[in-house]
Amino acid sequence: MSQRQNRLKIAEILASPRLEAKTVVMGWVRTKRESKAGLAFVEINDGSSFGNLQAVVARDWPGYDAVVPRLYPGTSVSVRGRLVASQGGKQAVELQVDALEILGEADPARYPIGKQKMSYEYLRDYAHLRPRTNTFGALARVRDVLAQAVHEFFHDRKFIWVHTPLITANDAEGAGKAFQVTTLDLAALAKSGKPPDFALDFFGKPVNLTVSGQLEGEAYALSLGDVYTFGPTFRAENSHTSRHLAEFWMVEPEMAFADLEDDMELAESFLKFLCRAVLEKCPREMEFFRERVEPTVFERLEGILAHPFVHLTYTEAVERLKAGGETFQFPVEWGVDLQSEHERWLTEKAFKAPVILTDYPKDIKAFYMKVNDDGKTVRAMDVLVPHIGEIIGGAQREDRVEVLEARMREMGLDPAHLDWYFDLRRFGGVPHAGFGLGFERLVQFVSGMANIRDVIPFPRTPGGIR
Ligand code: 4AD
Ligand code: MG
Repeated sequence: MSQRQNRLKIAEILASPRLEAKTVVMGWVRTKRESKAGLAFVEINDGSSFGNLQAVVARDWPGYDAVVPRLYPGTSVSVRGRLVASQGGKQAVELQVDALEILGEADPARYPIGKQKMSYEYLRDYAHLRPRTNTFGALARVRDVLAQAVHEFFHDRKFIWVHTPLITANDAEGAGKAFQVTTLDLAALAKSGKPPDFALDFFGKPVNLTVSGQLEGEAYALSLGDVYTFGPTFRAENSHTSRHLAEFWMVEPEMAFADLEDDMELAESFLKFLCRAVLEKCPREMEFFRERVEPTVFERLEGILAHPFVHLTYTEAVERLKAGGETFQFPVEWGVDLQSEHERWLTEKAFKAPVILTDYPKDIKAFYMKVNDDGKTVRAMDVLVPHIGEIIGGAQREDRVEVLEARMREMGLDPAHLDWYFDLRRFGGVPHAGFGLGFERLVQFVSGMANIRDVIPFPRTPGGIR
């Protein structure tokens, strides 16, 4: 039997050290140093916390010569010992080793994770080993804390988590290009020169990976009241930016009996809750990000907490942008989709606060957004934050059957394909609203990481999959 039952995680030890207690720790060596006095100091990290535990091996430990010379960064070990107050100044406690066993060696000539500073680009080639580094370990823990906080927030507000499908036959949501999913033999088809017959495909029709769980979320909201989804979504857009992934995670709440005001209130409370959770639960990780990644991370979070979000219509924003005296790469006119440079200017320069833009032109937004009385704009809202731009996109949904149908036709979509979606309006329809938070953009915002590829464990981007 393994010693797992006796094992303590380093996070537990550092949080409440029990001096003199017999302790078993398992983890990976970060560094080893041998002193002239004949002691070996081995820094061990087990992923549970930012901090390492220092194990001290005395020269007279019988296994010293057989084991200590084989300890290199990356070596996995199981250590048994006694926890004592540390002699050195760097840490409060250390482990006096009674026994140290090597579980797996790591050849220093071949181990790609060195002690020296490695670039994020370099580490992307080692996505399977980069969580051994301080940065990626910290990111993984912060990501987890944020994910747990998402559930906590909605659970407290009595929202029900629904699991929406990843494979869908909804052919057009207007949220970007979809990845088609097929079991047809493409090589054989190409050879035959015949067009594919999707009646013979797995589902008997063309299907794709979902770009959003919203439409199914609406169905559940119109039975259960308040719901949310939290899962991966897929977009086959050829965007090579620091803010786009082909596979990313999205949180999509949907509320029945709600309008755009309610939607904005929820978005603001939600973002504030998430920022507070990280400040409370990941102080060591945040301190590290401040030191090594981005000096302004605390100000960013405090900026979210300190300000009521500015509310502004798209039309007002366009006027601000045109009058602001700034030259943009993409000129602004009423009717154009705002670029990240415009979004960032509004939140970073014009208002120095998070901004919620509402009432966008209908032609640049999805078919399901409620049309305003002006006939030109829709009840959309995007939440813009410094450094990122759009972090949340949402809307009050169109609940009038005729208007929805007209909007779909106007956008070249066939209402017959979404007949079930019309049922939600035909039978007991109610005003409802929701939004989507890009989970990686949130992790990026919180950590200060410049590239979205570094805040998801295994990033998928155009031409990039490992
Ligand atoms: O604005 P989007 O496209 O909205 C929707 O998908 C709606 N169905 C949401 C809803 O109302 N339920 O996407 C929502 C958010 C964006 O604000 C952005 O943060 C993120 O998802 N996002 C991406 N994140 C990473 N990579 C991409 N390619 C992304 N596209 C959108
Ligand atoms: Mg959007």
